[in-house]
Amino acid sequence: MESLLREATAELRAAGVEGARLDARLLLERATGLDRARLLAASRDPVDATAADRFRALVAERRARRPLAQVLGRREFWSLDFAVTADTLTPRPDSETLVEAALAFAADRGLAAPRVLDLGTGTGCLLLAVLHDLPAATGLGIDASAGAVAVARGNARALGLDPRARFAVADWNDDAAGWADAGPFDLVLANPPYIRDGDIPGLEPEVAVHEPRRALAGGADGLDAYRALTARLDRWLAPGGAAFLELGAGQDGAVAALAAAAGLSVAAVARDLAGIARCLVLRRSGGDDLIKKTVGNGGEPD
Ligand SMILES: C[S@@+](CC[C@H](N)C(=O)[O-])C[C@H]1O[C@@H](n2cnc3c(N)ncnc32)[C@H](O)[C@@H]1O
Repeated sequence: MESLLREATAELRAAGVEGARLDARLLLERATGLDRARLLAASRDPVDATAADRFRALVAERRARRPLAQVLGRREFWSLDFAVTADTLTPRPDSETLVEAALAFAADRGLAAPRVLDLGTGTGCLLLAVLHDLPAATGLGIDASAGAVAVARGNARALGLDPRARFAVADWNDDAAGWADAGPFDLVLANPPYIRDGDIPGLEPEVAVHEPRRALAGGADGLDAYRALTARLDRWLAPGGAAFLELGAGQDGAVAALAAAAGLSVAAVARDLAGIARCLVLRRSGGDDLIKKTVGNGGEPD
């Protein structure tokens, strides 16, 4: 087993895969059905031929720089297990900043049963994490990708959250389709595509080649989705509610300016574990009680 693992690690490293040894081990766990401890205990044993073939096939996929989460078909987010496919962005730890900020806001406001909207739901990770922690909350996730919505529905079922989570294939520029009739919403979550189009080819192949372009491409300056969303947030937000927009590094100033131009107030900026402004908390201007407080690792609006 150890020699197979070493061989695969070398192959992955040669293909430019970061963390090659860890990936190889996780693929071997999948191929053999053994967890880490049992794999260690069996490290001197041979691998049976079927498992070895399975392992080589998985390694070949990863060598082609398919993201590990797509090869395994799973990724953990908010300590919950999510199915991931080529139709969905792999949930990122940074996005947990939005979940934290939304839960802190709901707790602060005493919102035990908020109505939640998740714009561009992907795997459904943001919506389902919030519904998981707020057992009386209900929510709607929309995505322009039918493939992503199918994955999100499956994730809701697997987590037992489907009675409280609805999903629709819809474009956030088009609420004439009626999906927004379920609103207004107390918590509006969005992790929109925010990478500058010109930057995408320079990203790692796992992202540039294998993640859905619609989940990444934010237009020439990366801000197209923020322009669309800030212009329309007002029609979805309940008067006492708040919107939580994920930001790319360094986008806080530009997005705050778009929000101000749309008549929204920045109530807080939440930072991720690296200290990067990762989430803008927006409320309707003139709202009854704008919160001005630290959220997560965050601080006062700049
Ligand atoms: C960055 S991904 C976020 C996925 C998920 N919320 C997460 O945090 O992992 C953005 C998502 O927005 C969707 N999207 C992009 N443009 C959209 C639009 N105009 N209307 C609805 N969904 C859109 C994409 O298909 C993609 O699933």
